[in-house]
Amino acid sequence: MKRRWFLASTVAMAVLTAGITTACGGEQSGDQATGEADAGSQVLTMATSADYPPYEFVETAGGTEEIVGFDVDIARHIAEELGYELEITNIDFNGLIPALQAGRADFVMAGMTPTEERQQNVDFSEIYYDAKQTIVFPAGGGISSTADLEGKTVGVQLGSIQEGLGQDLAETTPNMELAPLNRINEIVQELKSGRIDAAIIEDTVAEGFLANNSDLEAVEIPEEGPAGSAIAFPKDSELVDDFNQVLAEMESSGLMEELIVKWFGDGAE
Ligand code: ARG
Repeated sequence: MKRRWFLASTVAMAVLTAGITTACGGEQSGDQATGEADAGSQVLTMATSADYPPYEFVETAGGTEEIVGFDVDIARHIAEELGYELEITNIDFNGLIPALQAGRADFVMAGMTPTEERQQNVDFSEIYYDAKQTIVFPAGGGISSTADLEGKTVGVQLGSIQEGLGQDLAETTPNMELAPLNRINEIVQELKSGRIDAAIIEDTVAEGFLANNSDLEAVEIPEEGPAGSAIAFPKDSELVDDFNQVLAEMESSGLMEELIVKWFGDGAE
């Protein structure tokens, strides 16, 4: 899958605002009810980790905070098609599956990859978008492959597949240390301040951060493990089939492609 680099301006704003709103900590920072409340219509609660432009991030415009992004557009469309109101709650990535298990959310959209391990605890929709992994590092750092992570401290998001990948790499890479952090913005800040040497971040998300941080560079790494994003539900949720049906309609109508171009750029496929 080939994608174009982001146009800097919109993403700059997005990254900046996501940084500000998540800087105060990882807890629920952006609960919000969305849409006009129809009397009697049912509400679906989506949990996400809004630190992941362009999938989901917090946009502050006109003094209000709103969670927006590719995942949010998809969720809104599905909720509307199925006749639900949508409510979005913002929590750390690591807390998303526990939130589903505790019944605090009806579904999760967070660029989440349907790994086998997660499938033991939650159900997933079909994959709606694919991704690759990259190593992000300070420009001029000379990292061209995973072997160059020798002796380096590498940031990853806590609970993500990048953390799993980092753990595997650390087993075979001499003196590589892993630094798991809650939010992607923290990882970027740690990189810029030199407290970590590199980070493993998904290509599309890394591109956005790179577009706004010329002091960072990235290299793609070959990865055979699971990749791509799917919607997660509590085990045996009746919503899975309905969601899959709307996803399939979005694919065939071209709406999904429209949203991909909207959020990932013209070169996206
Ligand atoms: N795709 C990766 C995973 O499922 C990372 C997702 C991180 N998402 C986020 N909203 N921070 O583990």
